[in-house]
Amino acid sequence: MRLVVPLQGVFRGRGGILLGSLIPCALFYFLQLYLKRQHSDESSRVPPSPPPFGVEVSSLANSLAKSDESPYDIGLDRVARDSYDRINNPNGMIDLSSSESKLCLDLIAKWVSENMKKSIVGDDDFTLSVNGIATFQPFDGLQELKMAISSFMSEVMGGMVKLDPSNMVLTSGATPATEILSFCLANQGDAFLVPTPYYPGFDKDVKWRAKVNLIPVHCQSKDNFALSITNLEKAFSQAEKDQVKVRGIVFSNPANPVGNLLTRDMLKRLVHFAEKKNIHIIADEVLARSVYESDKFVSIAEVLDSEGLNKNQVHIIYGLSKDLSLAGFRVGVIYSSNNTVVAAARKLSRFSPLSAPTQRLLISMLSDRKFIQEYFESNQKRMRQVRHELETGLSSLGIKCAKINAGFYCWADMRGLLRRTHSEEPELELWNKFIDVSKINIIPGSACHCHEPGWFGICFSALTSENIPVIIERIKKVVETCKSSF
Ligand SMILES: Cc1ncc(COP(=O)(O)O)c(C=O)c1O
Repeated sequence: MRLVVPLQGVFRGRGGILLGSLIPCALFYFLQLYLKRQHSDESSRVPPSPPPFGVEVSSLANSLAKSDESPYDIGLDRVARDSYDRINNPNGMIDLSSSESKLCLDLIAKWVSENMKKSIVGDDDFTLSVNGIATFQPFDGLQELKMAISSFMSEVMGGMVKLDPSNMVLTSGATPATEILSFCLANQGDAFLVPTPYYPGFDKDVKWRAKVNLIPVHCQSKDNFALSITNLEKAFSQAEKDQVKVRGIVFSNPANPVGNLLTRDMLKRLVHFAEKKNIHIIADEVLARSVYESDKFVSIAEVLDSEGLNKNQVHIIYGLSKDLSLAGFRVGVIYSSNNTVVAAARKLSRFSPLSAPTQRLLISMLSDRKFIQEYFESNQKRMRQVRHELETGLSSLGIKCAKINAGFYCWADMRGLLRRTHSEEPELELWNKFIDVSKINIIPGSACHCHEPGWFGICFSALTSENIPVIIERIKKVVETCKSSF
């Protein structure tokens, strides 16, 4: 219209309006024709790009792609982009969040370098033994490895339990073991009760694909985060009122991240609770041997045996990522006396089997009693030492930690560094200071669903004594910034 009106002024008189409108339209038409030809010339040279709003993907893919990352994932991402190295990147991010043990990697490295070839392909005729590693093997694990893991687990659990390899399904890590059990024990929309603070991975392992919900059962600092049956009862009744079907209780014992242990008495009461409510127990015992006083850990398997309790409702998860520092090997175990669960889990293991060479290597490693004994002794000693050094450093800054017996974290009380302690926000502000000011990545309690803001998980099991002063110095910076702003 803007073009038409002035031209109407040029073509005055009869037909002025007509010409004044027609000419700009024609010009516009030819301009479009020109542009279109140009464009088609160009597009014949450039390969077609996918349409901007292309083909649809599943709702699972959409929700996973869009879902907000938790501070746990955001922190790891920051570390991946700017990782600390004492020589090459001394100002980089130090990761103190991943529950990984690196204290005895030297022992693992030595064993692997001395035994790898022999364990995987044997000493003799390679063409014979390659059959056992290059060909299909049962998805739920080799019988020889199940036998080796049964005796290894019995030892880890204090030597009091005898485990039957036929009740065992092997998976590529405790992560798929948790997911498989979720598929086996609950339907979509059902729920498991879970004591807090809990391992942040449970949210993914249980919810993402099996679509099982988690109902937090809050444990408190005044009880050193010990679980109480009263709180379980309350959470169970509330779920009933909300018409949510509770199918089980999932917990890690020793607890990750807090590091406390369930007592024999509490385990017994949990089994009774599960029987009364007719629900399952998933006991994640991946940290069974990562305890400072090994006699204090009691496996639920032992309680079932010694008390003659019903085993049908109890399922144990184990793995080699923690106790043997073999996170990269991806080894997980489901142990259950429920035949239906074992049969279904065996079928589901097709999606997460262990590779045959890994299994062959592990059969040798777990059978090397001398190595395992030495490894456990050194690991326990080094864990105690590094934890003690970190706790002492934190204490010098006025930061106290929960009293713990196991695990890879100092569960540090930083409530004194928050201006307000009744919401999550100040805790995340403090966490951001750790990331931005001191460049260390620790776990805010809220990422573990801790009910009380101000608790943080600081992993020590990947540290060496020489890192600790650097870390304490960096934490000190944040402490001073907080104190000066009060
Ligand atoms: C309590 C707990 N369960 C399970 C896992 C997963 O272990 P995996 O590496 O065997 O998948 C972890 C790892 O951090 C853990 O801390």
